Amino acid sequence: MKTTQPRLQDALGRPLQDLRISVTDRCNFRCTYCMPREIFGPDHAFLPRPALLTFEEITRVARLFASLGVHKIRLTGGEPLLRKQVEALVAQLSSISGTDLTLTTNGAILAKKAQALRDAGLKRITVSLDALDDATFKRMNDADFTVKQVLEGIEAAQLAGLQPIKVNAVIQRGVNEHAIVDLARHFRGSGIILRFIEFMDVGATNGWRLDDVVSATEIQQRIAAHWPVEPLEPTAPGEVAERYRYCDGTGEIGIIASVTRPFCRDCSRIRLSTDGSLFTCLFASHGFDLKTPLRAGADDATLLQSISSLWQHRTDRYSEIRSEATQGRRKIEMSYIGG
Ligand code: GTP
Ligand code: 5AD
Ligand code: SF4
Ligand code: SF4
Repeated sequence: MKTTQPRLQDALGRPLQDLRISVTDRCNFRCTYCMPREIFGPDHAFLPRPALLTFEEITRVARLFASLGVHKIRLTGGEPLLRKQVEALVAQLSSISGTDLTLTTNGAILAKKAQALRDAGLKRITVSLDALDDATFKRMNDADFTVKQVLEGIEAAQLAGLQPIKVNAVIQRGVNEHAIVDLARHFRGSGIILRFIEFMDVGATNGWRLDDVVSATEIQQRIAAHWPVEPLEPTAPGEVAERYRYCDGTGEIGIIASVTRPFCRDCSRIRLSTDGSLFTCLFASHGFDLKTPLRAGADDATLLQSISSLWQHRTDRYSEIRSEATQGRRKIEMSYIGG
């Protein structure tokens, strides 16, 4: 598997560059926009352990993807730090040369894990944080976690040398609009890159309505009213976040406008679910079962053939065609497919 194949493209000419791996469908939060407690309550059936890909299986798949041109790997969930010994997986994945490995966490147990992750070879990290006041934060995470716990996690990540640290905030109309300016004020000048995400209609349980989306334009204007910002060039084609710098030199922010300015045209991402299915879009209705052939002893060439064919036939561009008609579609929950 040393030879790198010719660049693989999907049916719309998009290369395969990013692999997002969900390592658990469980989470200690119940964010109302992702895992609403009414649905993900005590009776919810999470995946049984044997259904989960093992670290060896994940690493094998990741190596196959790397040989096809993937150079960014992100661990997600659910909450990836809940997967037992996730640092052991990080150690295996960080040995794949030429790939940028990172992880998205809610930060609740990051203070305990940051150093172990760094020691295992993780270089950077993204932490979700939707508000700076406990009332709003607890209302959103619906699990009684405090802002302080997450800030301590971020601090531990800084001390461990994870760099850069990005903070992601999902903004919902009438819920945490005030957090836009609060978070900007807090993280300006800290070296931490704050990014705002438009509330999306992922999954089928979060009761999404277009009226609940605070647009990227509005987010940018609310910040600029306090601190002028100017746009920055993308660092890479297909970058998800639109970047801005504070004109006073206190750092940069990002805005992820997946609803009002979709970025499907350059989407180079594939997702591997906790139980080993591949999804070619965050909004896909169905996955491609890779685990069955993997466990049936398929060789690398066979698996590479399946993955290549899946990508070559890909036509997904959900966010560009989002409409009344797409709202009725069967969609997979983000906690399962991976943010
Ligand atoms: P880096 O710049 O490499 O740190 O990563 P990134 O910009 O891809 O950011 P990250 O992985 O943290 O993604 C941020 C958020 O953007 C996710 O949590 C999603 O909400 C959204 N997002 C990421 N990828 C996609 C995508 O393919 N489609 C859509 N619609 N949204 C996405
Ligand atoms: N809309 C936008 N972002 C979401 N995330 C989860 N659900 C949604 C949604 N409905 C984000 C989280 C986290 C990442 C894993 O995905 O805030 O940053
Ligand atoms: Fe958990 Fe992240 Fe979903 Fe919140 S957004 S419930 S922290 S997986
Ligand atoms: Fe990619 Fe699908 Fe997101 Fe569009 S909606 S950017 S195709 S994952």
